[in-house]
Amino acid sequence: MPVDPYSKGLKARSDFEVIQNWKSIFRRVTNMSSDRVTVRAPSTIANLGAGFDVFGIALMDPFDLIEAKMTSELGVRVEKIEGMGAHAITLEHTKNTASVAAAKVLEMGGADFGLTITIKKGIRPCSGMGSSGAGAAGGAFAANHFLAKPLPMEKLLYAAAKGEEASSGSFHADNCGPSLYGGFTIIRSYDPLEIVRVNPPKNLGIVAALPAFAVATKEARKVLPKNVDMKDFIFQMGQASSFVAGMAAGDLQLMARSVQDKIVEPVRAPLIPHLKEAEEVTMKAGAFASFLGGSGPCICSLYDLDKVEGNAIGDAIQNFYESRGVECLCWVTTWGEGARKESK
Ligand code: HSE
Repeated sequence: MPVDPYSKGLKARSDFEVIQNWKSIFRRVTNMSSDRVTVRAPSTIANLGAGFDVFGIALMDPFDLIEAKMTSELGVRVEKIEGMGAHAITLEHTKNTASVAAAKVLEMGGADFGLTITIKKGIRPCSGMGSSGAGAAGGAFAANHFLAKPLPMEKLLYAAAKGEEASSGSFHADNCGPSLYGGFTIIRSYDPLEIVRVNPPKNLGIVAALPAFAVATKEARKVLPKNVDMKDFIFQMGQASSFVAGMAAGDLQLMARSVQDKIVEPVRAPLIPHLKEAEEVTMKAGAFASFLGGSGPCICSLYDLDKVEGNAIGDAIQNFYESRGVECLCWVTTWGEGARKESK
């Protein structure tokens, strides 16, 4: 009797699947101390002067904690959000950046399980400090932890950018990128999505000041120009390229000369009261550069850790805003690494 190659193939395939399933269960039982993981996802500053939608840097502080728990039920559910500005973040799983990114990772990884997620916010939403990007990066990273065959970082980046898209309406990766990869990152291309990481100088200090205004990225993108003047384009290219050269070479003076943005910050400035004066205040206190963090209202100042007292910059901008009746939070910090598992 002739052998039916099709049925033989099917049988072989089903044996393979049994082994794969067994391996997957074995991996889950042996490789994980429990059915949950907590991921720390850092805040980030995007744009950094002239690098709109391209540059981003991870900060050491503040950060979000994303706890994910495996469930037999498919899909990703956001159980609880607590911490800074938690009330402003949706639990709706199709709009929350962490759950959208996590669900994308599970889908790409062919997962046969689901997750429930709890988020502890250290990063205020609508701050320009990558709150939604950290959620997306943390959600993607946490989901990946449970896959029998974890996805490579490029795929996590794609999933995280899909998470960002769900919240801001635009597919941008300049916050979730550095929150995943750490350091200073450049989005080399959006299609296909590719990121380049550069190690910032060790002596790069960062002050992130957050006056008590809220700016939604979605709104801050509505004021952007549709077209750019060729002269401004050339200027911006020169600034951005030199900023990267300074970052890579540890040349803080070159970085200082290369953060001017003629295209985006000028049209967003009216959304952030006292922006220009606040930037000048930090420069007088010792910062070598000061600009709008992401879509604001964060004001990000860079300084030389070896030569300048970062707290003096933080105090100066806090006093400046508080004297105008505006509360201002401040992080005197440096750059940091990307998303990682919290050790208990
Ligand atoms: N590049 C984005 C923007 C970052 O400026 O709109 C949002 O924080």
